[in-house]
Amino acid sequence: MTPIATIEKLADFAGQQVTLRGWLHHKSSKGKLHFVQLRDGTGYVQCVAFQGDVPPELFEALGHAGQESSLILTGVVKAEPRAPGGFEIGVKGGRVLQKVEGFPITPKEHGPDFLLQNRHLWLRSKRQWAILRIRDAVITAIRRFYDEQGFVCVDSPIFTPAACEGTSTLFEVDYFDDAKAYLTQSGQLYAEATAMAFGKVYCFGPTFRAEKSKTRRHLTEFWMLEPEIAYATLDDVMQHAEDLLCYVVKSVLERRRTELAVLERDVGKLEAIVPPFPRLSYDEAHAILEEAAPGQHRHGDDLGAPDETILSNKFDKPVMIHRYPHEVKAFYMKRDPEDPRKALCVDVLGPEGVGEIIGGSQREEDLDTLLARIREHGLPEEAFGWYLDLRRFGSVPHGGFGLGLERTVGWICGLEHVREASPFPRMMYRIYP
Ligand code: 4AD
Ligand code: MG
Repeated sequence: MTPIATIEKLADFAGQQVTLRGWLHHKSSKGKLHFVQLRDGTGYVQCVAFQGDVPPELFEALGHAGQESSLILTGVVKAEPRAPGGFEIGVKGGRVLQKVEGFPITPKEHGPDFLLQNRHLWLRSKRQWAILRIRDAVITAIRRFYDEQGFVCVDSPIFTPAACEGTSTLFEVDYFDDAKAYLTQSGQLYAEATAMAFGKVYCFGPTFRAEKSKTRRHLTEFWMLEPEIAYATLDDVMQHAEDLLCYVVKSVLERRRTELAVLERDVGKLEAIVPPFPRLSYDEAHAILEEAAPGQHRHGDDLGAPDETILSNKFDKPVMIHRYPHEVKAFYMKRDPEDPRKALCVDVLGPEGVGEIIGGSQREEDLDTLLARIREHGLPEEAFGWYLDLRRFGSVPHGGFGLGLERTVGWICGLEHVREASPFPRMMYRIYP
């Protein structure tokens, strides 16, 4: 019996005959030879079918098979130093399961709208294959990191009764009996509850923002990783963000070299992601901006995309900006006891102008102060009863952050737009397919 192999594991079968099951990625024919680029999801390999070596029906069928025809091929795994994966297949037999003609996405250039409209098929392109396999490696690295560090994964709900990150970007849904629910903007408030039960926790799931922005950094549905740590201070939170990002990048460099090469990613830029990361206070960041672009950033305002670009371009590593004015940050952030005009928060800006990839803080742990903040922000007090209980029963200092998965993958892959980092991106003007 010929073993069934996958392209990524061909080295284990060098010199042997194997069966590969996949799709025709590309084909060229020359007289008595068909050169079939086969893809099986794990990789790409050239399969050479010589007329004299294969049954005539197969040779004929391969001649008519277009891009994305489904195929099963049996052949010998031969070392081929010039081939990308180091091997090629000398075809002996097999069959075409479905002959395809007219696959819409061809090697020629297509516009982004056409590709997004055909996302279900575009996923089969080599570049998309590489990006989504890197996304997978990022997710795996995150889960391994937390498991190794003794964190417990406790997920937050998606239907929620109230806002976490401001009321302007909430998606409202009809719940039963005329009640309203909202799709979660962040699992943080629930992660705070689970941190008080389990100590070190994380949640990792989809989050939703009705962002009316059409920038290359915004999706309306994206995945967020949110660690939350009992007894952590802002410094602990920053250290933790640095440890996590270094671990994730290192793991991708170990496991996804082929995919990074497909993307022509400059891996030198990723190899430079080692501790320590620069840490700047908001005031220091403002001073740098004043110097670089006088008048662009008003002290007291949040950082805009052009400000973030200037700051991140100054460093070859992620840069941490901490202690923003509390007015531009969320209600739950603790104020800095050294300067109460500031929040004990941090934004991590990715390098190469990718913008904010992480936002986090130390949380307000005092009951009365937190209640006052909820009132100041005009939030519905009733909905936060349970959250305030966390400050009534064994309140402790704690903190955490949210990491945007698609922005992180976009940075690691060197993407122009976050939409390619999501299998089926959801944006203001796109919910199909
Ligand atoms: O800075 P944000 O809004 O922080 C929170 O939601 C906190 N509650 C997280 C926490 O402390 N547990 O969002 C966190 C990250 C951002 O840094 C960004 O990477 C990503 O989520 N993000 C988006 N990614 C894609 N599209 C959007 N519309 C995003 N909004 C935020
Ligand atoms: Mg933020």
